[in-house]
Amino acid sequence: MNKRIAVLPGDGIGPEVIVETLKVLRAIEKKFDHQFTYIMCEIGGAAMDLGLDPLPPETLIACQNADAVLFGAIGDPKYDDVTTTSLRPEHGLLRLRKELGLYANVRPIRSHRKLYALSPLKEELVQHVNLLIYRELTGGLYFGKKQKDEAGLWASDECYYHKDDILRVARLAFDEARLRKKKITLVDKANVLETGRLWRTVVQELQQHTYPDVELELMYIDTAAMQLILHPRQFDVILTENMFGDILSDEASVIVGSIGLLPSGSFGVGRALFEPIHGSYPQAAGRNVANPLASIQAAGMMLDYFQLMEEGDLITAAVEQAIQEGLGTMDMAPKQNISCSVMGDYIEDLIAEPRGNWGAVKKRMNEN
Ligand code: IPM
Ligand code: MN
Repeated sequence: MNKRIAVLPGDGIGPEVIVETLKVLRAIEKKFDHQFTYIMCEIGGAAMDLGLDPLPPETLIACQNADAVLFGAIGDPKYDDVTTTSLRPEHGLLRLRKELGLYANVRPIRSHRKLYALSPLKEELVQHVNLLIYRELTGGLYFGKKQKDEAGLWASDECYYHKDDILRVARLAFDEARLRKKKITLVDKANVLETGRLWRTVVQELQQHTYPDVELELMYIDTAAMQLILHPRQFDVILTENMFGDILSDEASVIVGSIGLLPSGSFGVGRALFEPIHGSYPQAAGRNVANPLASIQAAGMMLDYFQLMEEGDLITAAVEQAIQEGLGTMDMAPKQNISCSVMGDYIEDLIAEPRGNWGAVKKRMNEN
C-alpha cells in the first residue's frame, strides 16, 4: 500500500518521539511491503524559530495533500510571554485542526496490568480500565470569538456550538459505542450553560431516533471529573465538548500512570491527524528521556485508519510486550529504565522479529 504521511515533529520532545515513531513505521513498511512517503514539515515554535508562521502555508498544503498527518508536540516557553496571541506556537496546531476540519478527537484510555502501581490511584480502581474519550475539537471556547480591551482590564472567549457541530461528532461516538459496550456518557454543564443544554437536547434526540440500542447517560462535568478517578470502570465512551474533553483527558492519564503512554487520533471528512496527548515537555527536550510510546501508538491508530489492522495490532502488541517485560522510560518508573531511542529500537525490533531480544537492547544500552 502507498501512503503519503505529513510528519510535523514540532517542539520540545516532539522531534525525538517522532524519530522513534518513524523507525517503527519503517519496520512496518518493510515487513508488510508498504510504501510510505514522509513529508517533513515545520510547525509551532520550531517554525517560528525560522521566522515562519506557527502554521506555515507549505505545512498546511502538505497536510491537505497527505493521506494522514503525524504530529509530535507543540509549545515552547520562550514564546509564553508574547502578548500578541496570534504568535503562539499552539496556534499552529489549533489552526491546523480547524483548517483540516478535524472535528472529532478520540483518546483511548487503557490501563496496563504491569503499570497499575504507577498510578497514584488505588490499584483496584485502575484495573481493567478501557475507555474512549470523544472530544469535539473545532468548536467551543477554543474557537469562539475572542475579545479584550486595550487597557488589559477585561477579556472574553465565546463558547459557541451549532447543532451540526454536535451531531457529527456524536454520530462517530455512537457508531463506536455500538461496537463496544453500547453505552455513552455525555459530559456537559447543562445546569448552567446554554451550550450544555443544546448538547443535551441534540444528543438525546439523536439517541432516541437513531441509536435506541445505545444507552445514553448524562453527567455534569464536575461530577464526571470526580467519577473518572473515583470509579473509572463505569465509563466506556465519553462524549464531550472541546474544553471539557481537553481537561478530562489529562485527568484520565492519571489512571494509566503516565501521560507519555496516551495516543490520540483526530478525524474530519477524509482527513486525519495522529498525535500523542502529551505536550512538548521542554525540560526533557534533547535529553533522550522522553517516552515515545504515545507517539508510536498514535502511529498504530493511523495504521488502523488506513485499514491496516494487522499492522496496527502488531504495534499494540509490541508496546504491550515492552511494558510487560518491565521496560520503560523514566516516566514509567520501570524496572529497566531505557532511553527514548532504545525504546524505539526495541519496538522496531519487536515488529521485525516479534519475539524480541532483550540481549540486543542491553548491548545497545551499554554502547550509548
Ligand atoms: C491537547 C493540547 C492542546 C489543546 C494545546 C497544545 C493547544 O493540550 O491536544 O490536548 O488544548 O487542545
Ligand atoms: Mn490538552
